[in-house]
Parts: sequence; C-alpha cells; structure tokens
Amino acid sequence: MKGVILAGGLGTRLSPCTRVTNKHLLPVYDKPMIYYPLQCLVNAGIEDILVVTGGNSAGDFLRLLGNGKEFGLKHVNYTYQEGEGGIAEALSLAEHFAAGDSICVVLGDNIIQGNILEARKAFDAQGGGARILLKAVEDPERFGVPVIDGDRIVEVVEKPANPPSNFAVIGIYFYDGTVFDFIRQCEPSDRGELEITDVNNHYIRAGRMEWSELDGWWTDAGTFESLHRASVLVKEGGANRMSL
Ligand code: G1P
Repeated sequence: MKGVILAGGLGTRLSPCTRVTNKHLLPVYDKPMIYYPLQCLVNAGIEDILVVTGGNSAGDFLRLLGNGKEFGLKHVNYTYQEGEGGIAEALSLAEHFAAGDSICVVLGDNIIQGNILEARKAFDAQGGGARILLKAVEDPERFGVPVIDGDRIVEVVEKPANPPSNFAVIGIYFYDGTVFDFIRQCEPSDRGELEITDVNNHYIRAGRMEWSELDGWWTDAGTFESLHRASVLVKEGGANRMSL
C-alpha cells in the first residue's frame, strides 16, 4: 500500500496566515501541521508516500521534509496541484504514483490521537474496494456525513444542513487502484470542485465501501477554531499514539 497526503489549497479560512505560506506548514502545537498526517501513514506501516501540494510555498515542503529521514523514510515523493480543483482532483495527480496499488489518502489538516492500524488491516482483508473512517462529532454539518442503514453506509452527504447522523467522514480514506476511474466519472460540484464525497458515493453505489469507527480523538485544523483545538489536543494528549 502507498500513501498520499493532500496538502494543497489556498487555505482561505486561515487568511491572513495563509497569505504568505501553505496551511499545512502552520504550527499545530510544536510541529508543522504536515508532520501529523505523515506520521500517521508511517505508523500504519506505509513508507512509499506522495505529498500533493499547491498554492503558496510549495518549495518549503521539500526544505522541511527532505527525503523524510526524520520519519525513518528513505524518500518522499512530491507533486503540485495547480489551481483549486478540489480534493478528488488533487488525488487524481497520484495516479501514476499509485501505479495500480491500493492507497491510503490523508488530508493534510487531519490529526488523530491514535493510529489507523486496525482499519488498515481490515482494508487489507476486504479484498479491494474502499474503506472510510467515521467519528462521532458535535458539529457534523461541517463535514461529509454518512447515511447509515443497519451496518451499511448507503450514502455520504457533504456538509448537510440537516445531518442524517452524528458521524463525520474523517479525512483518511483507503482506496483500491480503481479509484482513479471513479474520479474520472466525477463532475465539479456547485463550488466548482471534484469532491471526495462523490468518489466515496461511487464506491457505495458499486457496493464496495466498508467503514471503521476511529478510536481516540480526531480533528481537522483548517479554521482558526479547529487549528487552536488541534494544538490543545496535541499538547494535552499527544497525537499519533501507537496505543491509546
Ligand atoms: C473535507 C471533505 C469532508 C470531510 C473533511 C474531513 O472537507 O470534503 O467530506 O469530512 O474534509 O476533514 P473540507 O475540509 O474540505 O471542508
């Protein structure tokens, strides 16, 4: 399995900080934000990793991470997303890197307290398809929200005004090599972006989507409120722990 970190975008919700740098280089407690998704992948035993960046300061990722020695890696791959085409468009840039392998995709502003080892094992055992991770939250309307029927997810709704459940689809996704075919079938949403939720709904309609519930806390860090919360959570409880 290969890993993909999506660290592009203009980070407008964190302006003016993001006017001069990339969101994923801003500090979360004592480390740059990108350190957390990178450590998350490494902890899941994934060593072949692509960073998709874009917007401002793309060269600083190379200066910061180099070949990933600090994380025990021998090499890190980088690519660049032009414009604001959305999460699924950023992921499409990983097609030749994935080269048919399954991938674990982590949004660069998602931070977890624990690890995704159990989910990875479950995905490895399910024989293809996709797996998403869910976490119960107090503000599901900010996220992709699953419609759950029994033990199946029948749809994911992006930022619903009336959430169909109190779960968020967190920004860590497992996909088999067919994900790029699904992305090609996606049409831009009302905000002009290729949505990761549409990719997930393709897998759901194909009957090839499984899910796991994440243990430990999870947060994004793309707004001032969540960025602050992320720093407090990391300071108080530590992130990317191998056991909880
Ligand atoms: C994105 C996804 C959303 C997901 C969230 C997790 O939202 O579109 O489905 O729940 O990441 O962080 P965004 O942060 O782009 O608003």
